[in-house]
Amino acid sequence: MLRKLILITSMLILASLFLAACAGDEGPEGPQGPQGPAGPAGAQGPEGSPGTELTEEQVAAIAIAENLGGIQFPGLDEVRRGCPACHVLVDEETGQYTLPYEAHERAEARGEEHPETAPDGTSLAATEEVNVTTCLQCHAAGTGDRAGKGVIAPLALRDIVHPAHMYSQWFKLHYGGNCFTCHNVDGEGNWELLTEKVEVNEKGVPDPDALPIPGAVPIGAGTASGSAAIGGRLYDKWWKEAGVDEPSSDQPLWATQTTNTRSGGDTWRCKECHGWDYQGAAGAYGSGSHFTGFPGVFDVQSESFDTIVAFINGSANSDHDFSAMGDEAINNLATFLKSNLIDVSPLIDSETKAAIGGDTANGESLYAACSACHGEDGRLINFGDDDDPTYVGTVALDNPWEFLHKVRAGQPGTAMPASLDADWSMDDLLDLLAFSQTLPTEAP
Ligand code: HEC
Ligand code: HEC
Ligand code: HEC
Ligand code: HEC
Ligand code: HEC
Repeated sequence: MLRKLILITSMLILASLFLAACAGDEGPEGPQGPQGPAGPAGAQGPEGSPGTELTEEQVAAIAIAENLGGIQFPGLDEVRRGCPACHVLVDEETGQYTLPYEAHERAEARGEEHPETAPDGTSLAATEEVNVTTCLQCHAAGTGDRAGKGVIAPLALRDIVHPAHMYSQWFKLHYGGNCFTCHNVDGEGNWELLTEKVEVNEKGVPDPDALPIPGAVPIGAGTASGSAAIGGRLYDKWWKEAGVDEPSSDQPLWATQTTNTRSGGDTWRCKECHGWDYQGAAGAYGSGSHFTGFPGVFDVQSESFDTIVAFINGSANSDHDFSAMGDEAINNLATFLKSNLIDVSPLIDSETKAAIGGDTANGESLYAACSACHGEDGRLINFGDDDDPTYVGTVALDNPWEFLHKVRAGQPGTAMPASLDADWSMDDLLDLLAFSQTLPTEAP
């Protein structure tokens, strides 16, 4: 009897503590998770075991266990694995609860705006089409100077989703969520990420007819870890950026074409064979004196990081060996190719080379980042000579693809900053290009 009384008193104290804790200032409303149907009333809690005295901790534990009884766990046939098992479109208007919806909603809750497009051009509109691999283009964990951050975004996705789910009662109790909701462990004991909805039995075991598990990707594998801006500069005259000697002979593959008559160092620049627009013969170098017929590199971003490295260091094709730049440079260059290629074709009219649209007023304000070195009207540095001057305006008009690449990556061997380091959007690039095309091209 006394024990019962102590139990009841302790529960009352706990309850009042709980109420007191709740009486503080109300915090901002948290995001509503995808909700399932409400469950029936919970079963009666377990009877206290007779015999021993209960400590306060034990009493508290019983109270929690009793509360849990009121929550319905998902039926065993409802085990969910893979992000799209929960993050589906339930409201056309808001895009709730797709992955991009979560991104925009979380950023806006902090008074910020979430980017609208991924580096590869995928729209981040709130639809079910957007896969978590798209999020990882910016939110994969960075290393080197981005250690502890995302490769591009301020935070790595793991640091966002681990606490957001593992501390969420909705995730754990309503959905029975745990580590294996999002992960699988492969044959070698490595954690994999489940990027697609996995069809499973009542124990969460995948369908044997659908193995290997669809969309189970190694974590971090294929993730770029170097500096994309340095990589972008290496795409040009890499010897200047890497501080090694300029190659003097022709690149071995050069002899497999006859149309481009350059020789020596030029034949080793990635851009000479693959184009400033990364499209090779399918892009701006599809004709003219730079035509080689060689393919672009734009599609290589879907390959794994290691495959890209193998292309650069010659292990995939011994005639395509650029290992002279060194391992660190190759890492940076592969980072650029894996995560930072953009499709500029929607920005540039391929016939006239004019910027398609663009807000020149915003472009003018962005140009403030250039004027200290290039002057108010882009004529402070002449890249050509006195007879045939080349200014910022000239490059913007004559070679908008080179212009955008250099604005993003900087100029090899100079202090020109890279907009890649400042996270400029595609719209910013377009606006700057549109404004720069209005700058003078004649000598003052
Ligand atoms: C079993 C269901 C389930 C699965 C599977 C799931 N989520 Fe969630 N997710 C939720 C719930 C529930 C919430 C809301 C959590 C809360 O606020 O209590 C949420 C919230 C989020 C948020 C918002 C985070 C925040 O800061 O509030 C993001 C981002 C997110 N999920 C991404 C993912 C990604 C990426 C995956 C796959 C790797 C994934 N989710 C898999 C149920 C799920
Ligand atoms: C273009 C790169 C990029 C892509 C792709 C991207 N994000 Fe982001 N994300 C960012 C940046 C930049 C921020 C910081 C925005 C801010 O707060 O200023 C951010 C912020 C967030 C936040 C808010 C984190 C916080 O501070 O609480 C969440 C959640 C998020 N992203 C989830 C996602 C998800 C889910 C996807 C895939 C659907 C995604 N992101 C795709 C760049 C990206
Ligand atoms: C909502 C989905 C979700 C849940 C639940 C989840 N993870 Fe993750 N986890 C992720 C994502 C997303 C990443 C980042 C993947 C990437 O960067 O390629 C990640 C990364 C990891 C990594 C790699 C970390 C590294 O630094 O290499 C480990 C290990 C991991 N998770 C373990 C766990 C464990 C253990 C749990 C349970 C306690 C858990 N995860 C629960 C989504 C989840
Ligand atoms: C002399 C011309 C030339 C130069 C210079 C050159 N490449 Fe290539 N590259 C090629 C050719 C030709 C192929 C296709 C050959 C093949 O598939 O083996 C190719 C293929 C590639 C691929 C694989 C593309 C795919 O989609 O599979 C990558 C990645 C690549 N190059 C990157 C680079 C980088 C980075 C540089 C600068 C360090 C560079 N290339 C310099 C000619 C060149
Ligand atoms: C810190 C000084 C600095 C800043 C800031 C700067 N640049 Fe440069 N930029 C340079 C130098 C130095 C060169 C190389 C000049 C040369 O090769 O003669 C260069 C080269 C260029 C080139 C390539 C010319 C060519 O034909 O090779 C372009 C285009 C260019 N800058 C545009 C810009 C734009 C647009 C901005 C602003 C977003 C900018 N720069 C900001 C210093 C700067």
